[in-house]
Amino acid sequence: MCLSVLWCLCYNPDVMKILGIETSCDETAAAVVEDGVRILSIQIASQVEIHARYGGIVPEVASRQHILAVIPILEQAMAEAEVAWSDLNGIAVTNGPGLAGSLLVGTNVAKSIALARGLPITGVNHLEGHIYANWLNDAPPCFPLLCLIVSGGHSDLVLMKGHGDYVLLGRTRDDAAGEAFDKAARILGLGYPGGPAIEKAAKAGSPVVQLPRAWLKGTNDFSFSGVKTSLLRLVEGGNVSSVADAAASFQEAVIDVLVAKTVEAAKERRAGQILLAGGVASNGLLRRRLVESSPIPVLIPEPVLCTDNAAMIAACGYFRLQQGKLDGLDLDVIPSLKLG
Ligand code: KG4
Ligand code: ZN
Repeated sequence: MCLSVLWCLCYNPDVMKILGIETSCDETAAAVVEDGVRILSIQIASQVEIHARYGGIVPEVASRQHILAVIPILEQAMAEAEVAWSDLNGIAVTNGPGLAGSLLVGTNVAKSIALARGLPITGVNHLEGHIYANWLNDAPPCFPLLCLIVSGGHSDLVLMKGHGDYVLLGRTRDDAAGEAFDKAARILGLGYPGGPAIEKAAKAGSPVVQLPRAWLKGTNDFSFSGVKTSLLRLVEGGNVSSVADAAASFQEAVIDVLVAKTVEAAKERRAGQILLAGGVASNGLLRRRLVESSPIPVLIPEPVLCTDNAAMIAACGYFRLQQGKLDGLDLDVIPSLKLG
């Protein structure tokens, strides 16, 4: 009997509680979500202070920290949700993209629980998870959607016509938006992670320098390495009035392009709504500008759900399981997993 038939026969309760597990990068996260929309618990152990000492993520250190944190975080998520293992209806775990050693910790723990409790398991694409953070509220998004996913590793424009139905319209040709923020912060001596540091510094400055924008006309692609290099030249040449002004000018340049190209793609594809997702979506200026510039509704998760968390993985897992997308205990990690 195929796995999806087994799923329909065994699991169709009125309310579905899914345990989500996320360990793709430097956050160890677990959450319990009901029916893909209601968060019963959300727990995150961040390693940011450890990696900040090195100015970026050290993969081996990340894997070790996940091993130390994953069981306590799972227990906290179960306790906060006030559910027993027997109350769960499924497990969703990030199996890519991400750091192989980090992904392995989460997937192996998830498979162990699935085996021990006889629960269905589904592997979730981390980027798909970011998109599904938008389902964690009272008003579900309506298809067709234009999604901008902006994280530390990706800047993707995706058309979503239904659950699990993605068309990749464009992506960055070099640095991801979050990566560019991190590198710019390093150039300005603002520390790691760079996005929040740039946003904070920019509040005390003005975008007085017109840094170059890569429009890549006729495509839905992005490029952020040029603006980062221009910032470097500016700083090296001693041509910046203040760190705050440089941060504000950089932030303005990146957000200008993200907003204009997203709105343009939404019009081209006749999308009904725009979804913003990923760590960079917690940036206040990006959130405001996109809402102001878009002729169609813009949905953005609250900031804590934009950065890596497991509630988004559980939400996505719920809709995957509803579609019969089950995995077996041979579920493997795919560090370069793509969307669409
Ligand atoms: O989605 P995420 O938590 O992890 C990945 O999947 O990569 O995104 C992390 C990225 C980092 O590059 C971080 O600097 C950026 O999101 N970020 C921000 C802000 N908060 C996080 N970028 C700009 N403004 C922010 N407020
Ligand atoms: Zn992420």
